Formats: sequence, C-alpha cells, structure tokens
Amino acid sequence: MDALAALHQRVSITKLTTPAPDKAQLHQLFKAALRAADHGNMRPWRFLVIEGERLVALGELFARVAQSNKPEITTAELERFKSMPLRAPMIIACIAKTAENPKVPHIEQIIAAGAATQNLLTAAFALGLGAIWRTGDMAYDPQIKNELGLAPNEELVGYVYIGTPSIPVHLPREQNPEEFFSYWSQE
Ligand SMILES: Cc1cc2nc3c(=O)[nH]c(=O)nc-3n(C[C@H](O)[C@H](O)[C@H](O)COP(=O)(O)O)c2cc1C
Repeated sequence: MDALAALHQRVSITKLTTPAPDKAQLHQLFKAALRAADHGNMRPWRFLVIEGERLVALGELFARVAQSNKPEITTAELERFKSMPLRAPMIIACIAKTAENPKVPHIEQIIAAGAATQNLLTAAFALGLGAIWRTGDMAYDPQIKNELGLAPNEELVGYVYIGTPSIPVHLPREQNPEEFFSYWSQE
C-alpha cells in the first residue's frame, strides 16, 4: 500500500487474531516507529514486545493491580482484566523515555513517543495487519509501570494491540478537512 493510502485510510481494528506479525513485518514496523519526528534526535522512546505466555502474565498483573486498587472488585471484573491483553496475539507497549534537555521540553519528548506509536499503527495498516492503540488505567498505574520495568523518567504512552484482523476491515468515514483546517487571514 502506498504511504498516502495508508495515511488516509488507517483504521483501528479491535478484533484481532493470530498470526501476530512475523519477524520481517516487525522489522518494518520498528523502522517506521523510529522515523517519527523527534526534536533534538533524542530518541525518547523504547518499546516492549509482549506475546504468548507474557500476555497471560500481563492480564494477571492487570487483575492483581485492579484488585489492590479496589479490594471489593467482583470476580467478573477480575476476569475482564485478565482477559484484556488476550484480545490480540501481540502487544507492543510504547514507552516515552524522557530526559532533561534545555532545548526539548518534557512534553515534546512525550509527543515524539506518541508520533512513533502512530507511525507503528500506520505501518501495521499498510502491511495489512490490524492494530489499535489502547491506554486506560492500566497504562498509567504506578504499580503496572514498575512491574513492566519502567524507570521514573518513563511513561507508558500506549499499548498497541496488534495481529491479524478477524473481521472484515471497514474503511473509516471520510472527514471534511474544512472543519479542521483554515487559513490564518489578516483582518
Ligand atoms: C492516546 C490514545 C489512547 C487511546 N486509548 C484507548 C483505549 O484505552 N481504548 C480504546 O478503545 N481506544 C483507545 N484509543 C482510541 C483508539 O486507538 C482509536 O483511535 C479510536 O477507537 C478511533 O478509531 P480509529 O483509529 O479507527 O479512528 C486511544 C487513542 C489514543 C491516541
């Protein structure tokens, strides 16, 4: 798929199944992520690939943390947390790795990591894979961040769930650029 088609048509896919991206596809995705705009070439990002048994472990971690945050949690809610990461055969946790820099404010480093995440999504779509960016409480909880090995200078910008679409992909509704773009005129 050409670049503009991927940019114009990318859509999130929630229903994902095996196979996960293979090594060659992952290489393409990683290269796309690493071409995000990046003030000062700081490379303020890193990525954790989670698959197989580690997805089960992640679900157990989500459930454990949900229970410690809400001791009265129901069994059904716990099961929901456990099954969350199993909605795809692979998750790529996208992490902003920030550092003090007099020229590059903290927020710009987070934005760059977000841009890398978006590149990953668009490249996945271009390869015919399905993907969706998810966050929620499980991206921001300090205990989760700690158990995933994030350092104090790191933020989880999102979990990219990725795999093969298990339902037909519907292209997104076209938006009207005029609603969002205008020319700054002198008046
Ligand atoms: C930072 C960020 C966090 C998001 N978190 C979630 C989430 O937790 N759950 C979810 O269903 N969608 C989440 N989304 C939205 C989806 O990734 C997706 O963009 C949205 O469902 C619209 O679909 P589309 O990408 O096909 O336009 C998030 C998007 C961004 C940019």
